[in-house]
Amino acid sequence: MTGVADLLREDLRGRQPYGAPQFDVPVRLNTNENSYPLPEVVVEALQKALAAELAGLNRYPDREAVALRTDLAAYLGHGLTAERVWAANGSNEVQQQLLQAFGGPGRTALGFTPSYSMHPLLAAGTGTGWIDGRRGPGFDLSPAEAAAQVRAHRPHVVFLCSPNNPTGTALDPAVVEAVLAEAPGLVIVDEAYAEFARAGTRSALTLLDDHPYLVVTRTMSKAFGFAGGRLGYLAAAPEVVAAVRLVRLPYHLSSLTQAAARAALAHADVLLGTVAAIKRERDRLVAELRQRGAEVADSDANFVLFGGLGDQRSVWRALVDRGVLVRDVGLPGWLRVTAGTPAETDAFLAALDQAWRRDGVPGDPAVADGAGAPDEGSGRG
Ligand SMILES: Cc1ncc(COP(=O)(O)O)c(C=O)c1O
Repeated sequence: MTGVADLLREDLRGRQPYGAPQFDVPVRLNTNENSYPLPEVVVEALQKALAAELAGLNRYPDREAVALRTDLAAYLGHGLTAERVWAANGSNEVQQQLLQAFGGPGRTALGFTPSYSMHPLLAAGTGTGWIDGRRGPGFDLSPAEAAAQVRAHRPHVVFLCSPNNPTGTALDPAVVEAVLAEAPGLVIVDEAYAEFARAGTRSALTLLDDHPYLVVTRTMSKAFGFAGGRLGYLAAAPEVVAAVRLVRLPYHLSSLTQAAARAALAHADVLLGTVAAIKRERDRLVAELRQRGAEVADSDANFVLFGGLGDQRSVWRALVDRGVLVRDVGLPGWLRVTAGTPAETDAFLAALDQAWRRDGVPGDPAVADGAGAPDEGSGRG
């Protein structure tokens, strides 16, 4: 008899699902969540908003989520209106819908690796061919390099990510403009971490009026601390919104999600109050890691990529053993740590000081006598 595995689409066979570990350890700094629980005033507002929906759950929600889209447009500014904004269960779903509408079998999407690991997975799920674009040394991407790759491949969809996950650095706006000038299809700028960017960083939202192929995706999962609420959105031309409406499931956003997201947005000031504190921890992590001799990419996000670790898997394991979960994004020698509370930074740095040192791994005799480079470190400590 044929096994289920044999029934699977050929292009999905042997693939692994997205799977950041969800370990129950005291310090979880591996999925770039906001470490701060929602403040009481927001919890109460959510309780009220959700309670008001409960008796009406016998009815389907507003399929077009107009009130929520209106609130999201007001939050974004830039003269946006509901007809240029779309929302779904996380920006992952928004991007999936974009690929369903603009990608698909026989079409291609290009992203500049390393970048957000879900972009190629969403391409795979929608049968869109994936093209791994290149970055230069230090993960740089120049306008000319980016444009040349778009010119060479002529993809139906380009993914840019600014600030980029996992590197943390915001894109030079000239890169976005160079790609827009060259791209024959949709250009998605994933701005999941935009609210954490350093002062003076320009959002691609400023380019929307002049570029009908541009889509900017955002999320409430990070700065708003609303990852469990699952709400992502996009801003684009009305034609893009009309296109995703062709592929979205009917009633994809539950009444509860819409009500909760609106209540959270009504408290944007309170929720975004954590951003300054997180940026302080982000900058502290950058400084502390550099002081310890790690290579550190500049960060405009709520996480920091640090390298020069040698075997990053053993450092990762040694951190987990000390109750600190960070992310091994599969870049040899590098790990990514989320910026959370000051106490989490303290715990991470204390664990790291036991797990890794630039000049060797504490407790490893081979290293202690100078024979070992950091990349021979076992993470024992
Ligand atoms: C660059 C990037 N885009 C999108 C997302 C997904 O966010 P959401 O929770 O809105 O699906 C993430 C989550 O880590 C991310 O890093």
